[in-house]
Amino acid sequence: MSAPAFRDDQPTSESAPTPDAVLELRGLRKSFGDQEVLRGIDLTVHTHEVIAVIGASGSGKSTLLKTVNLLEGIDDGQILLRGSDISDPRVDVDATRARIGVVFQQFNLFPHMTVLNNVTLASRRVHGIDRAAAEATAQTLLDRIGLGTFAGAYPDRLSGGQQQRVAIARAIASDPELLLLDEVTSALDPQLVGEVLDLVTELKEGGSTILMTTHEMHFARNVADRIVFLHKGEVVEQGAPAEVLDAPQHPALIEFLSRAAH
Ligand SMILES: Nc1ncnc2c1ncn2[C@@H]1O[C@H](COP(=O)(O)OP(=O)(O)O)[C@@H](O)[C@H]1O
Ligand SMILES: [Mg+2]
Repeated sequence: MSAPAFRDDQPTSESAPTPDAVLELRGLRKSFGDQEVLRGIDLTVHTHEVIAVIGASGSGKSTLLKTVNLLEGIDDGQILLRGSDISDPRVDVDATRARIGVVFQQFNLFPHMTVLNNVTLASRRVHGIDRAAAEATAQTLLDRIGLGTFAGAYPDRLSGGQQQRVAIARAIASDPELLLLDEVTSALDPQLVGEVLDLVTELKEGGSTILMTTHEMHFARNVADRIVFLHKGEVVEQGAPAEVLDAPQHPALIEFLSRAAH
């Protein structure tokens, strides 16, 4: 006989997945050695939502994104992607990663491949789309982001901002359910940051679901639906950008914002 299904406000591993959630993190814990880097993270990302994770260096932002992409295992908790538990050790890692687009801080392009081949690689290898179809999609995407003429070029011909836009194009080429962006503008010269953030804004307008980390507070204010402040591996405050940025409550957030221009 099964136990009665009690529901309350606290998600537990037995709760039903939240409708409309693309990603649900429940009680996520992760240690490196004896250092606990994620200390019980609960976070839901809904369809079409853009969530900006902010926090000091070392607070666990990159580790959080890596656990979602299964680049780091977790010690406790659950990661639900559209309701299915991808932290289950039996999960097909490659198939799961194929559903998630990822761009990191450092330029992620393969230097020995043309821009077009960089963008089509995953579609062809992982999703089994034939070359002509993958290239047509990639060319349309590159045209849309103003880099169509670079299709045949190698990455070293492009500026850092252009390379990062290509990396984003590659991440969205196979239409992922979720896009993870980790400090995608941090390695760029200041004058190149805008073109990359403009592309992220366009993706949001196109309905992408995005979990990103950023130090760009103006961008987080203007584009994110919700800002999540991570402090020593815990979400200590979250809410609408104006709430979090203009009326911070937690002392660590107040301190963090006093150092960051916003
Ligand atoms: N692979 C790893 N092995 C050991 N410690 C790590 C590893 N990755 C990250 N850490 C540590 O985990 C903490 C959080 O790192 P990180 O997630 O990169 O923070 P953030 O992205 O917020 O700067 C830091 O103290 C970092 O040194
Ligand atoms: Mg980081």
